[in-house]
This record gives sequence, C-alpha cells and structure tokens, in this order.
Amino acid sequence: MSPAPGPGPGWLLFSLGLGLVSGSKCPNSCQCQAQEVVCTGAQLKEYPPNIPLDTRRLYLDHNHITFLPAMNLGLLSDLVYLACQHNLISGVMDYTFIGVFKLIYLDLSSNNLTLVSPHSFSMLSSLVQLNLSNNPHLLSLNKFTFANTSSLRLLDLRDTGLQTLDHAAFQNLPTLQTLYLSGNPWKCNCSFLDFTIYLIVSHLDHPDGQNATCVEPAELAGWPITQVGNPLRYMCITHLDGRDYLFLLLVGFCIFSAGTVAAWLTGMCAVVYQSARRKSSEAEEEDEHGQRVVVSRRIFQSRVDAGQDGFPQLM
Ligand SMILES: *[C@@H]1O[C@H](CO)[C@@H](O)[C@H](O)[C@H]1NC(C)=O
Ligand SMILES: *[C@@H]1O[C@H](CO)[C@@H](O)[C@H](O)[C@H]1NC(C)=O
Ligand SMILES: *[C@@H]1O[C@H](CO)[C@@H](O)[C@H](O)[C@H]1NC(C)=O
Ligand SMILES: *[C@@H]1O[C@H](CO)[C@@H](O)[C@H](O)[C@H]1NC(C)=O
Ligand SMILES: *[C@@H]1O[C@H](CO)[C@@H](O)[C@H](O)[C@H]1NC(C)=O
Repeated sequence: MSPAPGPGPGWLLFSLGLGLVSGSKCPNSCQCQAQEVVCTGAQLKEYPPNIPLDTRRLYLDHNHITFLPAMNLGLLSDLVYLACQHNLISGVMDYTFIGVFKLIYLDLSSNNLTLVSPHSFSMLSSLVQLNLSNNPHLLSLNKFTFANTSSLRLLDLRDTGLQTLDHAAFQNLPTLQTLYLSGNPWKCNCSFLDFTIYLIVSHLDHPDGQNATCVEPAELAGWPITQVGNPLRYMCITHLDGRDYLFLLLVGFCIFSAGTVAAWLTGMCAVVYQSARRKSSEAEEEDEHGQRVVVSRRIFQSRVDAGQDGFPQLM
C-alpha cells in the first residue's frame, strides 16, 4: 500500500477509525450510496481504502488493480456483489475471499489470473455466479476449486488457457445450470473423457456449446466438447497409439526370446542327455573289456541310485 496523503499519522488513524465506525467515508473517485460503492474506471492502481463496512455491492471494474488484499476485503462481511473485471489481478489465494462469505456474485473476468489457489472459493457457499473468463494465462483449475461452491448456478470459463478439466471438480455443483466453455484450447485426450461424459449426462445449458471445441488431437479437432464424449470413449477404449504399439512389440519380443531360450535349453538338454546315454553305453561296453570304467562311474554316479531302469537322474 502506498502512503496515504494527509496531515499526519494521528489524524489518519482517527479518520480511518471514524470511517470504520460511521461507515460514512467513501474512497476518492468512487461513488457511495445505499450500501453500494462504485469505483468503475477510476484509474485505481490498488484496492481503495475507506470503503464503508456495510457495503453490499462493490464495483472495482475497469481499473489497474493488481491484487485483492484479504484483510481489507474481509472487513466487508455483508458483501454480496463484487465486480473486479478488467483489472490486472494475477492470482487469488486460499485466503483472499475468506471474509466475504456472503458473496453471491463474483466477477474476476478480463484480468491476468495465472493462479487460482485450490481453496480460493471454499468459503463461498452462497456464490451463485462466477466469471473467470478472459484470463488467457489461467492454465489449470484444481479439482477442489469448486468443492464448496454448492450454490453455483452460472460458471463462465470462456477464453482462458485451460486445456483440460477434472470432472471431479464438478461433483459438488448440484445446482449448476449454465456453463460457458468456449475459446479454450481443449485437449481431448483420454484424461478428458470423464469430463466429456459429465457434460453429456448433466444436461447443463451451454449457450456457447458449438464454439467450445477440441483443439487436439487432430482427429477430433473442431468437435464440440459437449458432443465429443462418445467418439472419445470409442477412441480411448479401442484406439491404440504409438506407445501402445511399442509396448505390444516389447511384450511380443519378450515372449519370442523366452520361447527361443526355452527351445535352446530343451535342445541342449536333449543333446547332452543323448550323448551321455551314448557314452554310458560305450562305457558299459568298455567295462566288459575292463577299461574307462572310472570315467563312466564319475559321470553317472546316480545311475546306481536310479536302480534297475538305468536312467540317470542328473541334470
Ligand atoms: C463474463 O465476463 C466477460 C468479460 O468481462 C463478459 O463478456 C461475459 O458476458 C461475462 N459472463 C457472463 C455470464 O456474464
Ligand atoms: C500477465 O501474466 C503473464 C504471465 O505471468 C505476464 O507475462 C504478463 O506480463 C502479464 N500481463 C500484464 C499486463 O500484467
Ligand atoms: C468446505 O467448507 C467446510 C466448512 O465451511 C470446510 O470445513 C471444508 O474444509 C471446506 N472444503 C474445502 C474443500 O475447502
Ligand atoms: C491429456 O492432456 C492433459 C493436458 O495437457 C495432460 O495433463 C494429461 O496428462 C493428458 N493425458 C493423457 C492420457 O495423455
Ligand atoms: C461462435 O463463434 C463465432 C465466430 O467466432 C461467433 O460469430 C458466434 O457468435 C459464436 N457463437 C456463440 C454462441 O458464442
């Protein structure tokens, strides 16, 4: 916060206190009237001081505000309507809206959001309308983002950088009616399947449905994501991509080499066994002549244990 102009810190404190108590103060370049504060297009670079504490509707749109201070915002415990569109807000934190739990309408569109912290909206259980559109650097939303916004009826996610959404993020939105999804570079891969199925079964209103299309993969480019569920399911269940083929090739090769090794081992065994048998019968013959009997004994020691059948039990 920049130092506020004024006669001195004492006076500043006094007037701030007066403002807090009476609620009669109004930020410079804003209009305050009947629990409504309008600072639209006031060239503000930061959140204005002296907003009456009983404010219910706050218009901060079309300024250059870069962040929303949770402490100051949290003083406005009656706030139900907050318009922050067309500013330079780059992120909202878990604690940003912790004090404004009665909020019904929140517009953060046309900012420069890069981060929406997972629990940013977790206290906003009365929130009915949320606009996050036109934040081109917003690349992802956590699956807990809407876990507690159970009153939400309208959600605008147009023109962001979102490539994918987790269908789990929409599990706790029983009253959601309208969902805008166009202008995003949707990546319709198999991770996206569950969300597209959700779009089919949930019967939401998609006013821009025809313009919310897949950008990737090439086979599905241009498909509206509200209709891509079935082709995507077909692709994900039957379609094999390069990696799958590589995997199958590898498995095939392993089976082939295992087979080869097994065949080679069997062959070796057979050959060794055959030659051993031949040697043993030679040895027996030679035994009659009283020669090389020691060698034969050493190779086929078990022959003796094997008993009558004459099969060696080694190997
Ligand atoms: C959300 O904000 C955008 C840009 O500020 C605006 O054009 C759009 O109409 C808003 N969405 C709704 C549903 O009001
Ligand atoms: C918006 O955010 C991006 C990414 O953080 C940054 O590069 C860019 O300068 C920002 N734009 C403005 C107007 O602040
Ligand atoms: C939802 O709200 C309840 C109570 O207000 C809180 O205990 C819980 O942690 C919140 N959930 C999330 C995901 O923030
Ligand atoms: C699908 O695309 C998203 C977004 O780029 C990515 O996070 C995810 O890992 C991808 N899933 C698969 C199965 O490729
Ligand atoms: C869809 O996009 C086209 C071209 O950008 C635009 O003219 C049309 O109004 C859009 N339709 C909806 C329903 O948003």
